[in-house]
Amino acid sequence: MKTIGVLTSGGDAPGMNAGIRSVVRTSIYNGAKVLGIKQGFNGLINGDIEEMNLSSVADIIHRGGTFLRSARCEEFKTEEGFKKALNVIKVFGIDGLVVLGGDGSFKGAQKLSQAGVPTICIPCTIDNDMGYTDFAIGFFTAVETVVDAISKIRDTSASHGRANIIEVMGRECGDIALYSGLAGGAESIIVPEIEFDIDEVCRKIIHGRNRGKLHHIIVLAEGIGNAYEVGKEIEEKTGAETRVTILGHIQRGGTPTAFDRIIASKMGHEAVDLLLSGEAGKALGIKCNQLISIDIEEALNTKKEFDKSMYEIGKILSI
Ligand code: ADP
Ligand code: F6P
Repeated sequence: MKTIGVLTSGGDAPGMNAGIRSVVRTSIYNGAKVLGIKQGFNGLINGDIEEMNLSSVADIIHRGGTFLRSARCEEFKTEEGFKKALNVIKVFGIDGLVVLGGDGSFKGAQKLSQAGVPTICIPCTIDNDMGYTDFAIGFFTAVETVVDAISKIRDTSASHGRANIIEVMGRECGDIALYSGLAGGAESIIVPEIEFDIDEVCRKIIHGRNRGKLHHIIVLAEGIGNAYEVGKEIEEKTGAETRVTILGHIQRGGTPTAFDRIIASKMGHEAVDLLLSGEAGKALGIKCNQLISIDIEEALNTKKEFDKSMYEIGKILSI
């Protein structure tokens, strides 16, 4: 294996840069040439590819986003687009590929792997919605951002005696809401995985108010639906004034936490080690604090389990 390609795909996640840096430096350390592929699978189709050196990845470990840029590339899903990508891989002499992204990107990587391109996947998504790994790169940075927002909103919530609803990202996964809600001391955490009882949320508001509580924080995962409608129903049922904050893309940026940088550095290093030792078609992950590598197919087929016991702790601590 002489030439390794690296790309970032799908929704960006803080820590992707640390992962690229690790792939580039580990490859060079081992005497391999390393190519940065721009804008996800687009770069593979258009040949938007640049050789990386040690300086290419200087001063990026602490930066959010991805300097290789990312994209959602529909063309790659077509037969024609995929063929173009295979051709570019051949022309550039790419012997192995590292794909950093979420489950969509893993599907693309799996196709390349099945077509004979040695490929290793690294999980990057703030949603943390991939079942085979305890944590994906970017998740804890997003959680830190939400916890910071909760603390700030709690101040104004208490000043005005309001119920504040904070909508967080996650698609169909409630992990950002669960982890940030627990860490931020939210009164209610609303996630798609657990049937949501508006009356229970309202009871908590009334109970809190009766015992002199001034603030009320409700963290709601985007997969639930319309936060404004939830707010309206709460106002009608409790008489409490509500405000909704949709945190949005602020959760996708910012300097990655040390944890995200560390797992990105470890996984980038491992991805190159695996390719150089002739392994391919693997997805890297973290299970019980250990780095694991399993077949991409198995990774894609592992159902995400919601941590109900953590959810219950959140409920107990917010009585
Ligand atoms: P994420 O990787 O964050 O889950 P997406 O689901 O948008 O993001 O997927 C990123 C990209 O991966 C897509 O734009 C597409 O280029 C590629 N991809 C997704 N699904 C497939 C698929 N079934 N076959 C081939 N490529 C895919
Ligand atoms: O998958 C990551 C994610 O940030 C989701 O939480 C969110 O729903 C979605 O991407 C937003 O995607 P876009 O990049 O299209 O705004």
